[in-house]
Amino acid sequence: MFACFRRIKKCQLRQLMMTCFVLSVIKVYWESLDRNITSHVKSYSFRMLSSLDFISANLTISHKAARKFSDHRYLINHEQKCVDEDVLLLLLVKSSPENFERRQAIRSTWGNEAYIQRNLGVTVRVLFALGVHPQPEDRKKLEHRLLVEDETYQDLIQQDFLDTFHNLTIKLLLQLRWTHTYCEHARFLMSADDDIFVHMPNLIRYLQEVNRTGVKDFWIGKVHRGAPPIRKKESKYYVSEEMYPWLLYPDYTPGAGYVVSSDVASRVYQASLTLNASIYIDDVFMGICGNAIGISPQEHVFFSGEGRAPNHVCIYNQMMTSHGHVKDFHELWKLATDPVVQQVSSGLLGKLYCTVAKIRLLCTLHTINTYPCKAAFL
Ligand SMILES: *[C@@H]1O[C@H](CO)[C@@H](O)[C@H](O)[C@H]1NC(C)=O
Ligand SMILES: *[C@@H]1O[C@H](CO)[C@@H](O)[C@H](O)[C@H]1NC(C)=O
Ligand SMILES: *[C@@H]1O[C@H](CO)[C@@H](O)[C@H](O)[C@H]1NC(C)=O
Ligand SMILES: *[C@@H]1O[C@H](CO)[C@@H](O)[C@H](O)[C@H]1NC(C)=O
Ligand SMILES: *[C@@H]1O[C@H](CO)[C@@H](O)[C@H](O)[C@H]1NC(C)=O
Repeated sequence: MFACFRRIKKCQLRQLMMTCFVLSVIKVYWESLDRNITSHVKSYSFRMLSSLDFISANLTISHKAARKFSDHRYLINHEQKCVDEDVLLLLLVKSSPENFERRQAIRSTWGNEAYIQRNLGVTVRVLFALGVHPQPEDRKKLEHRLLVEDETYQDLIQQDFLDTFHNLTIKLLLQLRWTHTYCEHARFLMSADDDIFVHMPNLIRYLQEVNRTGVKDFWIGKVHRGAPPIRKKESKYYVSEEMYPWLLYPDYTPGAGYVVSSDVASRVYQASLTLNASIYIDDVFMGICGNAIGISPQEHVFFSGEGRAPNHVCIYNQMMTSHGHVKDFHELWKLATDPVVQQVSSGLLGKLYCTVAKIRLLCTLHTINTYPCKAAFL
C-alpha cells in the first residue's frame, strides 16, 4: 500500500519535473524568438515610420480650415471636473446618447471614481463623450433623459455634432480639446469605448509606476503596425483613395482603449489643430497625429484592442483591457478584483499552474482575437 503511494508520488514528481523542464526550455526559446521577431518588427516599422513623414505633412491644412472640424458647441459640460486635484488618469469614454445602460454599468464597476479613490488611493476622473442622436425625433426625448442623467452623475460632456460612426474623429477632437482646456495637468489620458472592460486596479498600479519614472512620450495599447487601408466598399472601415491615397497607416492603437501621457496628449492636440480630420477612423487619425509629432505607440500585451480576454482566474492578475463586454460587467468586475485571484497565481506552484493555463488559453491555433501568446510567459 505505502509502496504503491510512493511509486505514484515518484511518478508524479518525475512528471512535474519533466513539465518544468520543458516549460523552461520553451520559455527561453520563446523569449529569444520573441526578441528577434519584435526587433525585426520594430526596425521594419521604424524604417517605414521615418519614411512616412510625408503623410502628416501632406494632410496639413491651415488652422482656419482645421478649426471647422472641432468647432462644435458644448451642450453639456463640466469645466470644474479636474480643478485642484492631482489627477493620475483622465478617462474619456466614447459613448452615445442612447447607451444609458452601458454608462450605468461602467459607473458601478470599473469607472467608479469613489471606489478608485477609496481602494486605490488615487484620483481618477471618468467622463463620457457624446454627440447628439442623429434622428431628430429621438433627439429631443434623449436630450431630456441625458440632462436628468447628468444632473445625477455630473459626468457627461456633449457637443452638438451628430453622434455617428463616421463622426468618431470629431469625437476624438472633442476629447483632445476638452483635455487641453479643462484637465491638462492629468498625468495620463485614456480614451476608451463604452463596451470595454478595464481592470482598473491593474491599470492604476501600472500607471503609478510609470508616473514615478517621470516618463515622457508615453503611448500604450495594442499596436497596429503598418496596417493597410481597407478599400472594400462594403466594409465599415472603408476608406477611399481620395481620403487616404497611401498604402499604409502610421502605427496606431485601436480606439477600444489606449493611454497617453499628458505631454503626448498636449502635442497630439496641437497637431490636430493643423490636420485634415476628414478621415473618419478616429484611431487612425490619432496615428496620423502621432506621425506628425514623431511618436509611435508601444505595445502592451494585456491591452486587448478589439480582442477579448479569456475568462480565467490566471488572466485577471495581469489584464488591462478586454473588448466586447456589456452584459457581464458586474460579474467580471467581481471575479477580476477578488483577492483570491492573487493567491491562485502566487508561489512556485501557482506560477507554474498559471503558465500552463495561460499557454492553453493563448497559444493554441484556434485562439484568435485575444492576448498574444507571449503574454502567457509574462
Ligand atoms: C535570434 O537571433 C540571434 C542572432 O541574431 C540568433 O543567434 C538566435 O538563434 C535567434 N533565435 C531564434 C530563436 O531564432
Ligand atoms: C499630397 O499627396 C497627393 C497624392 O500623393 C499629391 O497629389 C499632392 O500633391 C500632395 N499634396 C501636398 C500638399 O503635398
Ligand atoms: C506623479 O509623479 C509625480 C512625481 O514624478 C508625483 O509628484 C505625483 O504625486 C504623482 N502623481 C500621482 C497622481 O501619482
Ligand atoms: C457629423 O456631424 C456634423 C455636425 O453635426 C454633421 O453635419 C455631419 O453630417 C455628421 N457626419 C456624419 C457622417 O454623420
Ligand atoms: C480634406 O480632405 C478631403 C479628402 O478626404 C478633401 O476633400 C478636403 O478638401 C480636405 N480639406 C482641406 C481643407 O483641404
